[in-house]
Amino acid sequence: MRVLITGGAGFIGSHVVRHFVNHYPGYIIYNLDKLTYAGNLENLKDIEHKPNYHFIKGDIVDRELLNALFDKHRFDAVIHLAAESHVDRSITNPLEFVYTNVIGTVNLLHAAKSLWIDNPQYKTPADRNLFYHVSTDEVYGSLGETGMFTEETPYDPHSPYSASKASSDHFVRAYHDTYGLPIVISNCSNNYGPNHFPEKLIPLCINNIKNNKPLPIYGKGENVRDWLYVEDHARAIDVIFHRAKTGSTYNIGGHNEWKNIDVVRLLCKIMDRKLGRPEGTSEKLITFVKDRPGHDLRYAIDSSKLQRELGWKPSVTFEEGLEKTVDWYLANEEWLRNVTSGAYQQYYELQYAGR
Ligand code: NAD
Ligand code: TYD
Repeated sequence: MRVLITGGAGFIGSHVVRHFVNHYPGYIIYNLDKLTYAGNLENLKDIEHKPNYHFIKGDIVDRELLNALFDKHRFDAVIHLAAESHVDRSITNPLEFVYTNVIGTVNLLHAAKSLWIDNPQYKTPADRNLFYHVSTDEVYGSLGETGMFTEETPYDPHSPYSASKASSDHFVRAYHDTYGLPIVISNCSNNYGPNHFPEKLIPLCINNIKNNKPLPIYGKGENVRDWLYVEDHARAIDVIFHRAKTGSTYNIGGHNEWKNIDVVRLLCKIMDRKLGRPEGTSEKLITFVKDRPGHDLRYAIDSSKLQRELGWKPSVTFEEGLEKTVDWYLANEEWLRNVTSGAYQQYYELQYAGR
């Protein structure tokens, strides 16, 4: 099976690519990534030499490129993760989110449809094709003090990021209902773990604690997120990819709700211990700052459908996952230094110039 994974140089995508390359040596994995600020091939150093892995630098907004790639490689399945993913960036630059998350997704859907549905020469059995769209719980909007998002919760996005992801989800379903494209969608809660770009809450705080810099908490820090270790998300994608019914949707989450302030306090405690600082040292870095506009109060995912139907469950507790995450960042100072200095991008510009 030839599987196209988009956004495989990013945070979650790199874990998904590694998982599929290592667990399915019979599959050929093509990683298509534009290498934006969030894409980093260092994330895949350990598997880049494997014979079933190929990297393609390219932009999903480029429709001709996508058509040519589908024509050349005859992908049997797509796992689509490429996206602009940071809410704060979507507030300052919403159009970039429309281009990649909406138009890029429609371009991909269209290229898959042209090969799988419109092309009579294409011989792979239809039941092997799958367009897997990786989405977020943020499309459901914001919860009050109680309740959880189920697969039936109506969409109610508030940020330009979540609006663009909601739009892409609708297009994916429209391609299923209108053209019969075999699709599946999963909506996952907040991920954390190794290779997370340090603009997001957890890696930002790890980096700032290490460097004795302020830890910016938006508003009062009372917003709640439901955190899942990134490798558990990759395992869920594997299970859904192989066993979900076409046209279905699954929520993925860890039943692991935390107020932001409590996450940061826990991180401070772990980091004080690991760095040999007296307990309470890092908490002094906590700084309350102006709230994010339209800041969703609470996300909580009900993933009981996935657990019940496909037998998936998270493999680590939040405390275990955070320990592993902090250990990874402390052991990978060079990765963090390259990412925060932007050095990794100059390297790719040289390496991929003219390709
Ligand atoms: P990320 O920002 O770390 O990585 C995104 C990747 O997509 C990068 O490698 C980037 O270079 C690539 N990319 C961006 N624009 C592109 C384009 N036009 N063409 C080709 N490649 C492009 O994001 P992430 O956190 O790994 O998220 C991956 C997916 O999972 C996204 O679709 C996101 O919406 C979804 N998701 C993320 C979370 C989370 O907590 N991070 C939770 C649920 C769902
Ligand atoms: P983030 O990691 O950006 O993920 P998302 O917005 O997709 O949930 O933010 C997680 C939570 O942390 C969110 O409620 C915003 C908050 N936050 C801060 O308080 N300070 C920060 O510096 C950042 C980046 C986020």
